[in-house]
This record gives sequence, C-alpha cells and structure tokens, in this order.
Amino acid sequence: MAFYIFFFGLVLSFSLSVVIASDHSPLQDFCVADTRSRVLVNGLACKDPKTVEAADFSFCGLHLEGNTSNPIGSSVTPVTVFQLPGLNTLGISLVRIDYAPSGVNPPHTHPRASEIITVLEGSLEVGFVTSSPEYRHITKVLLKGDVFVFPIGLVHYQRNVGSGHAVAIAALSSQNPGVVVIASAVFGSKPSIANDILVKAFHVDKGVINYLHSIF
Ligand SMILES: *[C@@H]1O[C@H](CO)[C@@H](O)[C@H](O)[C@H]1NC(C)=O
Repeated sequence: MAFYIFFFGLVLSFSLSVVIASDHSPLQDFCVADTRSRVLVNGLACKDPKTVEAADFSFCGLHLEGNTSNPIGSSVTPVTVFQLPGLNTLGISLVRIDYAPSGVNPPHTHPRASEIITVLEGSLEVGFVTSSPEYRHITKVLLKGDVFVFPIGLVHYQRNVGSGHAVAIAALSSQNPGVVVIASAVFGSKPSIANDILVKAFHVDKGVINYLHSIF
C-alpha cells in the first residue's frame, strides 16, 4: 500500500512538474495566432496554415531603445504572442529591458514563465525571493554578458547599478508570461483591497495605506 501511495505521488509530482514548467506543447508544426478570431481557447485560435507568411513569424524593432523617462527609470519592450502571432502555442517569448542610470524594474512575478536574462550593456543588480525555504533573497550583480534565471512564479527585480544606460534581453518560457507588479497588485487594484486588510498585512497605520492607494 505504502509503495502504491509513494508511486502515485511520484507520478503525480512528475506530471505536475511537466505541466507547470512551461506552456503546453504544440500538436502541430505551428498555430499562428489569428488575431481577429473571436474564438476563445487556451491561447489564441489558429490562422489557416495555408495562409501563413514569414511576417507571422517575425518582429522588427528590438534594436530600438525603450523610453525610460518615467518614475521607475525602466522600460520593457515585449515580444510575446501579441506582437508575434507565430509564438502561439510555442511556449516562449522575448523582451528587451532598458534602464536609465539607477533605473529599477520593480518587484514583480510572471505567473506562467521562468525567465532567463542576459546583460547587453551596463551592469544590473538582480534578485528573486524563494518560497521554500521561506523568503530567502538570492541576489547578484550582473556584468555585460552575464546570464541569470528567475524561476517561474517567484518575485524578482532588476536595478541598474552601472554609471550609464543599461540594456538586457530576457527569454521567457511562455508565449504570454503575464506580469504582476507587486506594488500595483496590492495598492493599485480596482476596486481596492480593504484598508484594514492592508493595515494588518503591512503593520502600518491607515494613513500610510491611504497614501499608497492614492499614488498607485
Ligand atoms: C518618453 O516618455 C515621456 C513621458 O511619457 C514623454 O514625455 C517623452 O516625449 C517620451 N520620449 C520619447 C523620445 O518618445
């Protein structure tokens, strides 16, 4: 009996790890997103494969610098299934991230993807926080050419610690990784999470929560 429970657990954990590691595998060569289709599926409906063209599998412009004139001093240029329809069902995507001096890509998580990042210009302090063991902070300074991975679902961030502009390219294990910026999710949701809940969660008084609600 114990053996069967162990075996079942093993099979279950293996199959779960396969399911959550990245998007589902395709069952055909490709399924270029038909961006005009109103059919709702897990992903996007396929364009007729006989009508696909090279443009469906390409994106132009990742050489262009993002606009970092904003309060956080960073900018993400995504190349997900919404910019490149040929990514539909393939389980991968790419982003370019630009950072002004001292710019930050604030703590966030991707609900559907691990992320592997490399620095093209400048230097970045990066980090993520583990769930088990609880809240261990894994951090490192990356120089040009260094590569780092943020495991799926974990809260992570980057900060430009060089003297000039910084640029990074990151690949993600989903056609649509999603992003949850922690501060915006907690203080900027509509409608707001009740003040007394946030007062208890953050161990601060109501004035601080009102202020944070007002700026997000
Ligand atoms: C960058 O963004 C800022 C703020 O939105 C805007 O004022 C500025 O014109 C933008 N710069 C460029 C080059 O697009």
